[in-house]
Amino acid sequence: MAVRYVVEGGKPLHGEAQVSGSKNAALPILCATLLYPGETIIDRVPQITDVEQILLLLQDLGCQVRREGERIFVDATHAQSRPLPREKTSALRASVLLLGPLLGRFGEVDMGLPGGCAIGRRPIDYHVDVARQMGAEVQRKDGSVGLRVSSLMGGQVVLPEVSVGATENALLLAAAAQGPTWIYGAAREPEIYDLAGFLQQMGISVCGAGSDRILVCPKAMTATQYAVMPDRIEAGTLLAAAAGTHGKIFLHDADWRTMGRILSFFGRCGCRMGVEKGGLWLKAPKRLRACPLLLTKTYPGFPTDMQPLSAAVLTTAKGTSMIMEQIFENRFLHLKSLNAMGGRTACSGRVAVIDGVRCLQGCVVKATDLRAGAALVVAGLMAQGETVVENGQYIQRGYGALEQKIERLGGRIRLEEGR
Ligand code: EPZ
Repeated sequence: MAVRYVVEGGKPLHGEAQVSGSKNAALPILCATLLYPGETIIDRVPQITDVEQILLLLQDLGCQVRREGERIFVDATHAQSRPLPREKTSALRASVLLLGPLLGRFGEVDMGLPGGCAIGRRPIDYHVDVARQMGAEVQRKDGSVGLRVSSLMGGQVVLPEVSVGATENALLLAAAAQGPTWIYGAAREPEIYDLAGFLQQMGISVCGAGSDRILVCPKAMTATQYAVMPDRIEAGTLLAAAAGTHGKIFLHDADWRTMGRILSFFGRCGCRMGVEKGGLWLKAPKRLRACPLLLTKTYPGFPTDMQPLSAAVLTTAKGTSMIMEQIFENRFLHLKSLNAMGGRTACSGRVAVIDGVRCLQGCVVKATDLRAGAALVVAGLMAQGETVVENGQYIQRGYGALEQKIERLGGRIRLEEGR
């Protein structure tokens, strides 16, 4: 079904918004519920299509699933490892996070390769390497992967490169192993720390999450209720909308402790910010300053998921900005649409240059992936006139009711579905 966001720009955003639970923490935690043969309750789960897709996959695996608002009940008592067809696993990248719990609990997994978006090839070789280091035998067929292990021994796993998802699969495998496991070269993202917090709530001992070496000591698991951390990228997206429209907003539940480099980016652009009452506020200047050099890095560096949003905001900043995308090889797809709106950007390989213009003009643009789509909505709010962001279904993968949050902040936006 066709989905588009219709945005009337030029109005500064003012007011308060509620930050939802983190997509990139909820997805691995929902996969982790497979480890426990009973009911688990997860709170603050965002209402987004990637979560709906993972819940369908859990049901395909024999789990009982039900949602009550932001609360999800998963009963994995009768779960089984069943082959997952590619047409289902390719719907999203996070399906690869089922690999660890299925192999850990049942000793086997057959699944189609995960999906992803246009931002890069996104192979799963690091995930397979982690499983192999823990004793699994690998059968690669075209478009799918099969893994078998008779008994998952603990020990040590060394990540070949820093990878959020492969670190999460290493944690999920180690949680089901016989004996303790050291994980070296782990990614340090807050979402990994949140997954570790969930595993600890289930009774498993996890030390060092958030650093590059983690010790997991499996223990008997218990029924658990756990609330997912706030979404730092959704919070950054709303801050970008406020910064780009020269407004002032307050975000309830935004956790400044996970947003260091995001906040320092907005500070470098001339925004003022503060932390209070369990959230944070941002007040933008009349015109933002350019950012001479912005590098995306693994945590605690500036997150790649905020790169498209920063590019949108910098299109009307005073001066020339440069962005180096160091994580994904094809993550500048939004620049073409920003140029169609009157932006002056150019890119070569992993480097983009943005010459600030006075203002953007609304027009019809197409989202190419989740964060690029959100960046075009932000650009539409900044622009004069009307912007239509087509392929809005990309945005719904990771943002629950973004249009309602923006409307509450005084933005003129509507969601059109169908036709
Ligand atoms: C997670 O993806 C996030 N997705 C991404 O968010 C995020 O951009 C990324 O981490 C980096 O922070 C979820 O958590 C569901 P990686 P992930 O493994 O785990 C390469 C969003 O918009 N790589 O850290 O897939 C990979 O291609 C999404 O919310 C391999 O080569 O990212 C990339 O270049 C987009 N082989 C780099 O490593 C592998 O086996 C980092 O990827 C795995 C990864």
